Amino acid sequence: MPHSLCFIGGGNMARSLIGGLIARGRDAKLIIVADPLPAQLEALRSQFGVRGTSSNLEAVTGADVIVLAVKPQEMRAVTTGLAPALARKPLLISVAAGIRASDIHEWSGGAPVVRCMPNRPALEGCGMTGLFATEEVSADHRRIAADLLSAVGKTLWLEQESQMDVVTAVSGSGPAYFFLVIEMLEQAGIELGLSPETSRQLAVETAYGSGRMARESSDSPATLRQQVTSRGGTTEAALRVLESENVRAIFSAAVAAAARRSAELADEFGE
Ligand SMILES: NC(=O)c1ccc[n+]([C@@H]2O[C@H](COP(=O)([O-])OP(=O)(O)OC[C@H]3O[C@@H](n4cnc5c(N)ncnc54)[C@H](OP(=O)(O)O)[C@@H]3O)[C@@H](O)[C@H]2O)c1
Repeated sequence: MPHSLCFIGGGNMARSLIGGLIARGRDAKLIIVADPLPAQLEALRSQFGVRGTSSNLEAVTGADVIVLAVKPQEMRAVTTGLAPALARKPLLISVAAGIRASDIHEWSGGAPVVRCMPNRPALEGCGMTGLFATEEVSADHRRIAADLLSAVGKTLWLEQESQMDVVTAVSGSGPAYFFLVIEMLEQAGIELGLSPETSRQLAVETAYGSGRMARESSDSPATLRQQVTSRGGTTEAALRVLESENVRAIFSAAVAAAARRSAELADEFGE
């Protein structure tokens, strides 16, 4: 029998997940969303046909799977507030950045928890999500969680929860790094005489094409880079400047800072 699904928080991430699930044939009648904003609920109702309520407790009653899609700073109050209605131990799936599964497990009164870290491109259906499950999560629940997040892109499981900080730093914050590269390439083109429109199109399409090649090719990104770098050519001239300015060390330090911040946030909002 298909399980009934509840979303706590009906914002951007919930809308993307619901859109992805409905597009894959999920029955809208089995989805209920709780959100304090009536306009938010009405938009979801008219777009997807899902039910809505302003009461979190009403929404979770009878739900087999509950997606916690509120901001990280709301997670503790929201999950603690749901605890009295979670006696049946439904599966909790959290998409909140930086909130540990063990904390959610505790706040909920012992429900099984899958913690997910999706990223912004999930809103376009091409996200990358890392998942982590606590010990009490069954194989069936793991499958349900992975299936749900697959509605908005690719998924992979992490062995240890501490790896979620690295996932947050690599793929969670990752879109911003790529946007920065596009921005810098666009600016460099303008400085060298291109119009802003031309330069942006060149930068954006190059990012898109390179991403597609990296995804679809069996060659590693390093091999792909070598293939477009002829000896004594233009690309080699550019890469030599980047390497001599220590771009790799700068990047490693940046990603490490993001991972550290993720761990700090978990401490701040957690137990
Ligand atoms: N968007 C992303 O790219 C992305 C990526 C990775 C992870 N995430 C995670 O996904 C979660 C949701 O992010 P989002 O971008 O979807 O945020 P969002 O658009 O702000 O959605 C959160 C929704 O929850 C509602 N809400 C607030 N308090 C609530 C409560 N007590 N009970 C029920 N609903 C409540 C908010 O209503 P109000 O607006 O009235 O406060 C809002 O509609 C966050 O934890 C974030 O870390 C998001």
